[in-house]
This record gives sequence, structure tokens and C-alpha cells, in this order.
Amino acid sequence: MKTEQVKNELVLVLDFGGQYKELIASGIRKKHVYSEIKPGSISAQEIKELAPIGIVLTGGPRSVYKTGAPLCDPGIFALGIPVLGICYGMQLMCHMLGGTVSPAKGGGEYGRTRTHLDSACPLFKGMPESITALMSHFDAVSSVPDGFKPAGKTRSCQIAAMYDQSRRLYAVQFHPEVKHTDSGESIFDNFLFDICGASGDYNIDDYIETAVESLRKTVGKEKVLLALSGGVDSSVCAALIEKALPGQLTCVFVDHGLMRKNEGDQIEAVFGSRALDFIRVDAADRFLSKLSGVTEPEKKRKTIGEEFIRVFETQSRALGDIPYLAQGTIYPDVIESGGSSAATIKSHHNVGGLPENVGFSGIIEPLRGLFKDEVRVLGRKLGLPDYLVDRQPFPGPGLAVRILGEVTYEKLEVLREADAIVREEIDRLKNRPDQYFAVLPGIRTVGVVGDERAYDYVIGVRAVTTADFMTAEYTPLPHRVLGKISSRISNEVKGAGRVVYDISGKPPATVEWE
Ligand code: XMP
Repeated sequence: MKTEQVKNELVLVLDFGGQYKELIASGIRKKHVYSEIKPGSISAQEIKELAPIGIVLTGGPRSVYKTGAPLCDPGIFALGIPVLGICYGMQLMCHMLGGTVSPAKGGGEYGRTRTHLDSACPLFKGMPESITALMSHFDAVSSVPDGFKPAGKTRSCQIAAMYDQSRRLYAVQFHPEVKHTDSGESIFDNFLFDICGASGDYNIDDYIETAVESLRKTVGKEKVLLALSGGVDSSVCAALIEKALPGQLTCVFVDHGLMRKNEGDQIEAVFGSRALDFIRVDAADRFLSKLSGVTEPEKKRKTIGEEFIRVFETQSRALGDIPYLAQGTIYPDVIESGGSSAATIKSHHNVGGLPENVGFSGIIEPLRGLFKDEVRVLGRKLGLPDYLVDRQPFPGPGLAVRILGEVTYEKLEVLREADAIVREEIDRLKNRPDQYFAVLPGIRTVGVVGDERAYDYVIGVRAVTTADFMTAEYTPLPHRVLGKISSRISNEVKGAGRVVYDISGKPPATVEWE
């Protein structure tokens, strides 16, 4: 299936290596304007053929005047299509059109910075004259190209925005796409609806309709197989295929015994009753015996990944000839793998991915064009329960990477119970962290239970706040909540004797402990 399923007004986001490209494109889609990310090297001719109504140039980590910096086809600025340059995108626009970019005064600006805007610039229509904006740059525009006017400044950056209204070219040095910038949304509204003339014609219902049609056309009356992990992507993928091809889908859920408390039963309850064949393979013993004696995290991941493939292969062989394999690949997976073709197997799908030669004649990936938040919306529309659709990320190798050292049945049971308490207590909060769970570091400490000496496991509590899981901050949970979690774990979980709270950020730590 093709990515470009939806024929809507299109805004292109050209990627120059900045970390916020997905935030920009998904933010534009949230405003009901369809957006796709393309490499910064795309030619003006290719853009012309795609006929976007607007173009955004992202930020990037390079110096535009240094050898090897990613440049763009200068023809882009002569297409008559409105362009918004952000951070490096502004410097690029300046450099390509004959202005000057130099190292910024004082080494640059980083963090929230008071920024004055010229309200005559259509990009800033209806906005305050002074906002706090997120800056992160070591270079800056020192003189604008011919035809441009400066349109913003900070204490140390004389040209923090610029525009050439006649050519419909606009640029900001700061990042309007992040929530740390006040009124950043207004900048996108002005660009999309006033400057590009977008009508906001994109919505997820169209996507469902087009995907359903396309699935029917591709698959016909044939059968489809899906490895269902119970995560958001594969669950929504199953629900979408079921809608398009009722009775033609078989879902194989390999229960590796490393799931959270009651998770396997919940997945079975949701999918066991739908218009698809649901097969739950109870493979807990197989996985545990393979993991016996394995202590090294990457070895655990590999062992689980390999065993998963073996179990899945046995199942699919037993089912006979099923020509299509479905996968819950989503747009960020496509972007991260360099926009490669449909044949690519999502590398971190479920537990390590499926091999390319699993013997299917076709691979279908109906969520290929969607961002995660769109997948969630789609899942709700397809009737999946909130607890499944709003699920936090959970690693494919499951609790095996939340138990440090060897995984045993006993440790799994302790961790499952402790983790259920952590999630239950944090779920009660109004503002929840983005990911929260328990870990079992595998060490035991001394305690007293009644008058007896106890020697039980330590439980670590992890809760992080993050936009993209690339970086994260620990969430300062209220002490009241931490206290409740600690006393519940100590009282209710046999084998857990002490509770600690992880207050590390990423970097230097990671979200998971392994
Ligand atoms: P780290 O620990 O790398 O985690 O900071 C970032 C995000 O990725 C998830 N994660 C995994 N997901 N397989 C997965 O499917 C894995 O092996 C894996 N390891 C980490 C983690 O839960 C967090 O959301």
C-alpha cells in the first residue's frame, strides 16, 4: 500500500536534521492540514509535482556556511509556494538567497528567550509584540537577503525573524513548534490558513475510508496474518483490517509470559470477540527456559526476538498458506528508516521484528502514513477501548528488560504485582507522567516483617515526563503518592521488601533500566 493515500492539501516539511521535524508535521496535521516529511535534498521539480500549498524548512545541527552543511535546491524559493524557515531553516533561506549568516553574538542563545516581534509581518498577526520563545542556535542571520525585512529581535539577536511578503517567504530563528514558545500555535495558524490559504480539509475519517478501500483492492478475498503484540500500533492495525476485511484476518498473539499483570487476558478479551480469528499462543515456558541463565540485556532482547520468530513461524505454517502479512508500521518508523519501501520489516516491531523471508507474498502496512496520536484517534474510532489505545509504550521484550539479571518466574511475579500497584496509584493522578512502571533490580535487602528478619527484593519506581522518549526528565511525583506506593508494595507484594524512586534524567540514564 502506498503512503500517499490521502489526496488533501499538502504541506511539506523538509528535513535538515532537526529533532523537531515530526513535531512540526504532526502539529500541522492536528490543524487538519495534511503534512509529509521529505528529505531536505528534494528537488524543486519534485516539489512542483507534489504541488504543496506550503513548505516548512526544519532546524538542523549544522552551520549553513560550512562545507558539507545540507543545502536545498534554490529553485524552491522561486516556486511561488509560501515557505516558513525555522532555526537552521531560516539561516538556510538567508544563505541561499544572498544574505549573511555568522556565528551568533556571545556564542548563541539557548532556552526560553524574550523575543520582540514586528506585528506588521503576516506571520505574527494577532500576536503580542513580545513573547517568550525557545531559542537554540549558535549561528544567526547578520544581514537579510535583498527584498527581506527583519521582523523580530532579542537582546542578543538582532534578526530573530525575517520575511519577504512579495515572494511569500517567512522565517523565524526560534522554534514555534514547541510548547515552550508562547503563541507558537498562532504562527502556524497564520502561516497555514492566512499565508498558504489552507482550508483544513484533512481528517482521520478520510484516512479510514481510503485505507479500507485500498485494503480491499490489494487483498481481495485472500487471508491476512498479523502478529498482534497488544501494543497500540498492532492493535489498531488489527481493528482497521477487521473493518476492511471482516473474517479474513488471523491474529497471532504470542504470549511470552513477560507481560504486565492481566495484560494477556485483556488482549484476549478485546480481540477474542471481534470479527477475526484470534490465536493466543501460551509460550511462557518456552521463553523462560530460553532465558534461563541469560543476564546480559542485549542477549535477552536477542533471545526473546529469536524465540518470538520461531513461535510465530510454527503458528503461521500450521495455519497453511496465508499470502499477506500485516504490520503495524507507522509514519515515524518509515521516516526513521529513511522512507524505505513497504518491504522493510519494522525493526523494533513487537519483540525484535520478523525476518524478511517469512514466506509471504505481500506485506500490508495500513498505518504507514500516520503519527502515533493519529493512530490513537483511529483506534478509538474503530471501537478499541481507551485502556488499549492510550497505552504507555511497553518494550517488546516486556518485563524481561525490567528485571536486571536473570529472569525467573518468581521475580516476574513480584514485579508484576509491584508494577500493577505503581500504575494503579499513578493512574489516579490528574497530570500523569508519560511513562511509569516498576523495575526489579534483582538485589535483596534486609528488613523486618513482624519480629522476623526478612531478605526481600528491592523495587525501583520509574516515572518520566518526555515529548519523544529521546530525552526525558524524571517526574517529581508527590511524596504522598510515593509513600502510598511504597507502603502498598511492602504490604501487598510478597517478596518485595524495599522501594526506591529513580530520579535520573535521560541522558545520562535511559528510561528503562536495561
Ligand atoms: P530507553 O530505555 O531507550 O527507552 O530510554 C526509550 C523508549 O523505548 C522503549 N524501549 C523499548 N521498546 N523494545 C521496544 O519495543 C525495546 O527493546 C525497548 N527498550 C526500550 C522504552 O520503554 C521507552 O518508551
